[in-house]
Amino acid sequence: MSELARWQGRYAVAEYIFGEEPNAFLAAQKHLLPKSGKALAVADGEARNGVWLAQQGLDVHSIDFSSNAQDKARALAERKGVSIHLENVDVHAFPYPENTYDVVVEIFTQFSTPNERAAKWAGLLRTLKPGGLMLIEGYTPKQLEFKTGGPKELDRLYTRDMLEKAFGSLARYEIKEYEAYMTEGAGHAGMGAVIDLVGWK
Ligand SMILES: C[S@@+](CC[C@H](N)C(=O)[O-])C[C@H]1O[C@@H](n2cnc3c(N)ncnc32)[C@H](O)[C@@H]1O
Repeated sequence: MSELARWQGRYAVAEYIFGEEPNAFLAAQKHLLPKSGKALAVADGEARNGVWLAQQGLDVHSIDFSSNAQDKARALAERKGVSIHLENVDVHAFPYPENTYDVVVEIFTQFSTPNERAAKWAGLLRTLKPGGLMLIEGYTPKQLEFKTGGPKELDRLYTRDMLEKAFGSLARYEIKEYEAYMTEGAGHAGMGAVIDLVGWK
């Protein structure tokens, strides 16, 4: 089965598989968000994060390749009374236009192979405006012990070294690694081992 078919199948249920509330790490960065501007939500799925960013006053571009997820994203945005720009695209084919977004958010997108990830992360850096805010959360290798979501392949999981190599050119950044109880729908439930990056270009 293709990855797209697998995700389409996962999303073909009434409930929001990662919940309707924003990711906890993202919500905790509310004080860092600009009051207006453009935000890119990468592999945003059902848009729990994109919709929340729009509720904070941002003009949100939400990209994902699953039309089933985006149908639910549209419904969630409508229910919350905000509008977001949904684009159905493979994040590895997205052009990441230079210096375009004030905020770039990548939450749990660990489907990329190492080569795809390098190109995608270079794109994230390129598309962030100077002074813009980058927010990333992913699982670490320790997540393989918890088995509460995320990929099974070790090379898809994020480490501090990997993030420092990719995002070391940011003007300023902070990386935190920790374990936390996740309550993000049925998709991420239970103890999780995560790593976060908060950075400014
Ligand atoms: C673990 S989910 C996270 C969704 C969202 N970021 C969130 O936190 O709720 C991963 C998402 O990546 C999307 N995805 C996987 N491979 C993709 C690709 N190559 N291009 C675009 N989206 C992709 C899936 O459709 C899914 O929505």
